[in-house]
Amino acid sequence: WLIVGGATLVLFLIVLSVNAYAMGMMPPSHMKMIDPKKVDETAPFDNLGLHKTGDNEYDLVMTSFIFTFQPNQIEVPVGAKVKFVVTSKDVVHGFEIPKTNVNIMVLPGHISEVTHTFNKPGTYLILCNEYCGAGHQLMAATIVVK
Ligand code: CUA
Repeated sequence: WLIVGGATLVLFLIVLSVNAYAMGMMPPSHMKMIDPKKVDETAPFDNLGLHKTGDNEYDLVMTSFIFTFQPNQIEVPVGAKVKFVVTSKDVVHGFEIPKTNVNIMVLPGHISEVTHTFNKPGTYLILCNEYCGAGHQLMAATIVVK
């Protein structure tokens, strides 16, 4: 039974390695690494905010740092397809917009990306859902869709 268990383990590792290295199945942010100490000088984070990329399509470049998101208030038109491009300047933070599929981790040194189309007008909260320190519960930003 030890041999069967060992063989299964080896098989799983082979499948995992083929997926990761031969087929390139990795988290979307995995290949994009930056120096967390030089975020402010590193593109695209040297130009934070909303950038139009197409017909009602935007890149929203944001950073997270000591219990804040930058920028903190964002306005987009109804129907906007927004690609969030986010990194952290200090520790691991969360990035969740309740009642949407947007829920990612923001890690120092990684660029995390997620796309969402805002079809309903309203005010959306961006919340940090990873405990990041004494001010964690204050960490939020707002997106106004109108
Ligand atoms: Cu940032 Cu919790």
